[in-house]
Amino acid sequence: MKSPILIVSFMVLFSCSKDKVIDNQAFTCTDEVLFAQEIEPLINQYCIGCHSAGSSSGGYNLEGHSNIANQSQQILGAMQADGFQLMPIGGPALNDTLIQRFRCWIEQGKLDN
Ligand code: HEC
Repeated sequence: MKSPILIVSFMVLFSCSKDKVIDNQAFTCTDEVLFAQEIEPLINQYCIGCHSAGSSSGGYNLEGHSNIANQSQQILGAMQADGFQLMPIGGPALNDTLIQRFRCWIEQGKLDN
């Protein structure tokens, strides 16, 4: 009897694909996100190569606090492919934890902390 195993496999597959749906409310920000320790290094690692003052792809320069803060909704939208083209361009998307830390930073007031 192999069919129960098949059914379970399908259930696992479906539950995994469901997890991919963006659910920002499911993640709560418990601690403070620090711009200097998390946000700027994140942008510098994954985005700055194509979005600096010298090379602002698509017109986006993401260097420094004010640029990141002023364009935070577009950045989050691009990280989640929500209303914007997925970034980093061509994927893969950043992991959910990094994206949610960025969202928490916005929610906490986009501080230069
Ligand atoms: C390898 C180069 C590259 C990297 C890395 C990269 N981008 Fe981009 N990005 C581009 C290019 C090229 C465009 C313009 C795309 C177009 O106009 O079709 C763009 C466009 C964008 C846009 C506008 C998208 C839209 O739909 O209007 C945003 C926002 C953006 N990038 C944010 C980011 C963020 C945030 C990161 C890091 C997580 C990132 N990018 C990483 C090359 C890159």
